[in-house]
Amino acid sequence: MEPEIIRYSAAITPFSILPKTLELIPLTTVIANLSYAYYGLVSLEKITYEASDFVAKNSNAKASDVETALYDFIRLTKNDYFHAKGAQDLQAPAAAWFTIRMTKPTSEYTTIPRWHRDGRMFDADNTPEIGSKYAITLLGKPTRLLVESELVRTTMIREEEGELDRYQCAEQLASEPLVGLKDGQIIRFTWGQKDSPVHSEPDMSTDRVFVSVLYGSEEEIRCMCEFRDEMYREES
Ligand SMILES: [Fe+2]
Repeated sequence: MEPEIIRYSAAITPFSILPKTLELIPLTTVIANLSYAYYGLVSLEKITYEASDFVAKNSNAKASDVETALYDFIRLTKNDYFHAKGAQDLQAPAAAWFTIRMTKPTSEYTTIPRWHRDGRMFDADNTPEIGSKYAITLLGKPTRLLVESELVRTTMIREEEGELDRYQCAEQLASEPLVGLKDGQIIRFTWGQKDSPVHSEPDMSTDRVFVSVLYGSEEEIRCMCEFRDEMYREES
């Protein structure tokens, strides 16, 4: 039987929420500010095992619960990535930068957001292709996102040109509406585009566990490692 070919003709939108919402797992406390990062070929088993072990050792969550959540997160986002590319083989290998940030409370962003659009992450194999990043918050508040508007656009241009700093930007955009996100939602947002969503860390005055992933070809993720001076994980 011929494999099913799924092609999404719609252009990549700057922001979307994936249709499936994940159930939040029992997780209320983290022990310290810690991060996990994986740059390399996507192996669902390897990443979920390592990352779940990392989260469980540094929080009050059960490794098996974390594993279920991360497994679903990677499976759904990787499928979405392939669909968006119009890929014919949804099981084809892909590389990724997968990261988990576990943080203890800070008041750094409570009243003053750090509004920004994500810049270029790597040089794409196919130049016009638009790159995306996926994220979910397992504990704490989700990413703060602004609804795009004329004021948002002009303020961010003024910030890029050095006319406004973080604090002035926050002041300018204080009354702008936010995109309402619910617990367990997986978001996708583009990077490196003029209209990539303007976002910030949320109020981080409670413990937080934030997970994100960005997919690419092996060359693209190796390029990202060079940009960031990180180690690409060679297969063992
Ligand atoms: Fe960002």
